[in-house]
Amino acid sequence: MTKYKFLKPDTLRNGVKIKNRVVMSPMTEQSSFEDGSITNDEINYYRLRTGGVGMLITGCANVNDLGKGFEGELSVADKSMLLGLSRLANAIKMNGTKAILQIFSAGRMTNSKVLRGQQPVSASAVSALRHGAETPRALSEKEITQTIEDFAKATKLAIEAGFDGVELHGANTYLLQQFFSPHSNRRADQWGGSLQNRMRFPLAVVDACADTIKQFADSPFILGYRISPEEIEEPGIRISDTIALVSQLNNKPIDYLHLSLADAWESSIVDTSDQRPVFEKIKAVLADDLPLIVVGHLATPAQVEKLIDSGVSFAAMGRELIREPQWVQKVEAEDEQAIRYTFSLRDLNELKITPPLLNFLMTAFRRGFPLSTDKHQLKR
Ligand SMILES: Cc1cc2nc3c(=O)[nH]c(=O)nc-3n(C[C@H](O)[C@H](O)[C@H](O)COP(=O)(O)O)c2cc1C
Repeated sequence: MTKYKFLKPDTLRNGVKIKNRVVMSPMTEQSSFEDGSITNDEINYYRLRTGGVGMLITGCANVNDLGKGFEGELSVADKSMLLGLSRLANAIKMNGTKAILQIFSAGRMTNSKVLRGQQPVSASAVSALRHGAETPRALSEKEITQTIEDFAKATKLAIEAGFDGVELHGANTYLLQQFFSPHSNRRADQWGGSLQNRMRFPLAVVDACADTIKQFADSPFILGYRISPEEIEEPGIRISDTIALVSQLNNKPIDYLHLSLADAWESSIVDTSDQRPVFEKIKAVLADDLPLIVVGHLATPAQVEKLIDSGVSFAAMGRELIREPQWVQKVEAEDEQAIRYTFSLRDLNELKITPPLLNFLMTAFRRGFPLSTDKHQLKR
């Protein structure tokens, strides 16, 4: 008998049973072929990390060519990707783990080099506040309708490939969030302006994907939605905006909400006088039957259990599952001493970490990816 609640099963809104409450967070591995098709390196990387976790969410896959955010990113933009996506779904669906494909468009968070000379697109022609960001062009109404269809088509491909579900990437400043954000969305048509109008695009994408599932899936297929609750920009998304979005998502046929946080227990990054954890505020307005996934700097079984004890349905882990692919299996075997919390360059081959992923981890995520030789180690 396990002492941990997180090892017990739970159920999503559509009735699909998940064997435990640990989720692998979506992480791009930057190791796909140039056209976004799957490499054997990626299959091997995911195969090593599946089988233990209840759900494994893949790195983001772009739903159309203009949605590509990075080199080596997965693509679900074309039927020609189907064979590789089927291999990926099959590799993940081991020992009961549910395979979820994260689908997205990068919007303005890309550049013309990645897009092979094309200008990035967004809700409006406003560049992101980051060094070297290019100014995107605003999508036309026709292109918006096409992008919604592209999300739906990607969902259909995911069904055909044998995935158990898709997650709409509405977080981390990408296109779905860009439409919701008053920073990146300055439109004056039905797709921008009021809070209601800024929600129109993400909600239309949810509807289109839900319709596709209804039409093409012959068994329950999971539809998840990932959000970032706040933006530091002025103007930017505030918690009150997110609460309004969550109230709308409550009434949509989604099966879980995934809250993207740097630290699972973090409070507002905008109003620092408010110390209440953000996930509690979201949970307070979430429909009772809609499970919540929370992510952010979780590493030890005690940290995961504490989060589950506080009423969160699922705990997602990112970097810890890169360092320790067998995390769940080790907890199940009561072999917690063997869990790795740091990473050594000697482990690269064993962990199936490719050079582009290593480079990404050592640059963008260096502080959160401690080497075994580092002085600052993860707090246990
Ligand atoms: C290498 C790497 C790639 C990532 N790629 C994605 C992605 O494709 N989609 C996404 O929603 N989040 C992505 N993230 C964010 C993670 O899903 C997660 O939210 C973040 O790493 C915080 O969780 P952690 O502290 O457990 O690592 C990525 C993170 C890392 C480290």
